[in-house]
Amino acid sequence: MPAIGWYNGMLGKPAEMSVPMNDRAVYFGDGCYEACVAFGTRVFALDAHFDRFYNSLRALEIPFSEDRAALKAILTGCLQAADEPCAVLYWQASRATAPRTHAFPGSGEPNLLVTVTPKTLLPPERTLRLVTTEDVRYAMCNVKTLNLIPNILANEHAKRSGADEAVFVRSGFVTEGSHTNVHILQDGALITHPTDNRILPGVTRRILLDLCRENGVPVAERPFTTKELTNADEVLITSSTLGVRRAETVDGVPVGGRAETLYKRLLTAYGEVFSREMRA
Ligand code: PDD
Repeated sequence: MPAIGWYNGMLGKPAEMSVPMNDRAVYFGDGCYEACVAFGTRVFALDAHFDRFYNSLRALEIPFSEDRAALKAILTGCLQAADEPCAVLYWQASRATAPRTHAFPGSGEPNLLVTVTPKTLLPPERTLRLVTTEDVRYAMCNVKTLNLIPNILANEHAKRSGADEAVFVRSGFVTEGSHTNVHILQDGALITHPTDNRILPGVTRRILLDLCRENGVPVAERPFTTKELTNADEVLITSSTLGVRRAETVDGVPVGGRAETLYKRLLTAYGEVFSREMRA
C-alpha cells in the first residue's frame, strides 16, 4: 500500500482519499505519469524523468502549470512526509476535472496526483522469466500515458504463466516489455529497439546505452526478432524499479548465459551510477 498520497494539495493516506468522478483520469485515462525509485528524499535520475514527463505533457497538450522546481518541491514534500528508506515515487497529471466530452473540455485545470509506496528492490542477481505476447498497442507508445490496458493484460498473462514479465512482439520483432525495455547482447554488442513510437524511451535504457558507450560496447538501435531474442548471448531487461537485470527463460526455454562477463561489467557500472547518485 502507498504510505502517502497527495492530490491537488491534499496529503493523506491514499485509502482515505478520493478523486472527483469527473477527473478525466477516471473515465479516459487522459493524462501521463512517471515512476521513479527514491531513497528518502533522493530520487534516482529525476531530471531524466522530468524530461520525459514534460515531453508527455507536450504530446498530450496538457497545460500543466508547475515548472520543474515547483513540481520537485511537491514531490520532495511527499517523500519527506512518507519518510521511507526505499520507495517508488509515482506521479500523474490529468488534463482537467470536467463533464465527459471526448474533445478537450475548454475549462478546468490539470490535476496532480502523487503516491509514495514502500519498495524492496529485488537483488541484482535475481533473473527474470519472460513470456512473449503480441503487441496490440497503438502507435503512441513513446508517450507515458495512463492508458495501459494492453500492458496490464500482458503482465497478467505473464503472471498466470508463472513468469515475471511479458515481452511484446510486433510482426515478429521485439518492441519492449509490459513495463520494461528489452535488449540483447550479441557478439559483444548491445542491440535494442530504436526510440520511435513503438516503445517508451526508458530512463534506465538511456543510462545503459551511455554505459555501453563509456565501456566500449557497440550499440545497435534496431529492431530484433524473437529468434534473435531466444538465441541471444544475454537477454537484458531494464526499468526504473528493476534496474538492469537479465532473463533466464523466454516462454519457458532457457536463454542467454553466454556473455556473463560483459553483463556483469554493465551491471556493476549501473550499480556504481545508482549508488553514486543515491549517496551524493
Ligand atoms: N514502467 N516500457 C514501458 C512500457 C514502461 O512502462 C516502462 C516503465 C519502461 C522502462 O522505463 P524506465 O526505465 O524509465 O522506468 C519501458 C514503470 C516502471 C511503471 O510503469 O511502473
